[in-house]
Amino acid sequence: MSILVTGGAGYVGSHCVAALHAAGEDVVVLDDLLRGHRAAVNPKIRLYAGSLNDPVYVGDMFRRERIEAVFHLASLSLVGESMKKPGRYFLNNVAGAVNLLEVMCTHGCPPIIFSSTAAVYGHPTTTPIREDALKRPTSPYGESKLMVENVLKWYDAAYGLRHVALRYFNVAGAAPGGEIGEDHRPETHLIPIVLRAAREKTPVKVFGTDYQTPDGTCVRDYIHIEDLIGAHLATLRYLRDGGASDVFNIGLGHGFSVREIIEAARRVTGADIPAEAEPRRPGDPAELVASTEKAERVLGWKPEHLTPDEIIASAWRWHRGHSEGY
Ligand code: UFG
Repeated sequence: MSILVTGGAGYVGSHCVAALHAAGEDVVVLDDLLRGHRAAVNPKIRLYAGSLNDPVYVGDMFRRERIEAVFHLASLSLVGESMKKPGRYFLNNVAGAVNLLEVMCTHGCPPIIFSSTAAVYGHPTTTPIREDALKRPTSPYGESKLMVENVLKWYDAAYGLRHVALRYFNVAGAAPGGEIGEDHRPETHLIPIVLRAAREKTPVKVFGTDYQTPDGTCVRDYIHIEDLIGAHLATLRYLRDGGASDVFNIGLGHGFSVREIIEAARRVTGADIPAEAEPRRPGDPAELVASTEKAERVLGWKPEHLTPDEIIASAWRWHRGHSEGY
């Protein structure tokens, strides 16, 4: 039996595939390679280069493979892009997920681990954010993920589809070997942008310095990709042990400001990294920090990389080895 990873050539997907492979699992990847990179997937792994919007192709793949569980990570994930092109997000993220579920439920309904996001909470009213907090997404991206979480519940009701949604906070860093890492085009995430600035000696734009936070810049919960993948493996064990459908926040449970991240990057790289104050970026909440109590209690998982320096050091190794990405 095999584990299917959709989006397995993407940033989180490729780390997930590598960890499953290293754990001795038989892994199959489905990725349309629109944003993913073929080079991010070990050539020993079966890669189906097709789209979830092509249900005939997905059905063929399920007929060829014997899928025991699905990690559904394939999605578009740029908040800003989703504001301009909402249809792309609903077609790709929501319709694509429904196509996948339809096929899965004619092939034994294997359990599914779904990659969701802190963006489902919008501007949170409490901190740290618990899973049962109010969910009011402020972008089509966040909305599309919340819609899929809800769709999963109806498949559970109709077909007994066991599912776990993992709401990622700010994922960063790279695997220790340095062969795979974060390569988004365009890149909008803070840590890779700060590292590019360290390399190219250009200033980082700090979006907003007048938030109600200790230093006026936004606070986020940065989680090392290795810890995020650890949460995926713990979820697979949970489902294999018969665990019920549920949803978990995956973060560190502790926040760092934009300025603290830039400071940490200066320590790690030894570069000056000039920073320039810019106006706020529309839609950014002041603070997003996860309560990880539920994931720790139910999944028996705990993040191990507790400082931004560790995350940034691993990302820096990848960036220095791959200045042009893959
Ligand atoms: N930032 C800057 N300068 C930059 C880039 C980012 O100051 O050049 C700031 C942002 O304004 C924000 C913080 O750095 O305050 C983090 O920004 P990222 O773009 O790295 O991450 P976000 O918090 O915006 O996004 C993350 C996930 C999304 C998810 C979102 C939920 O990457 O997938 O949290 O709000 F949708």
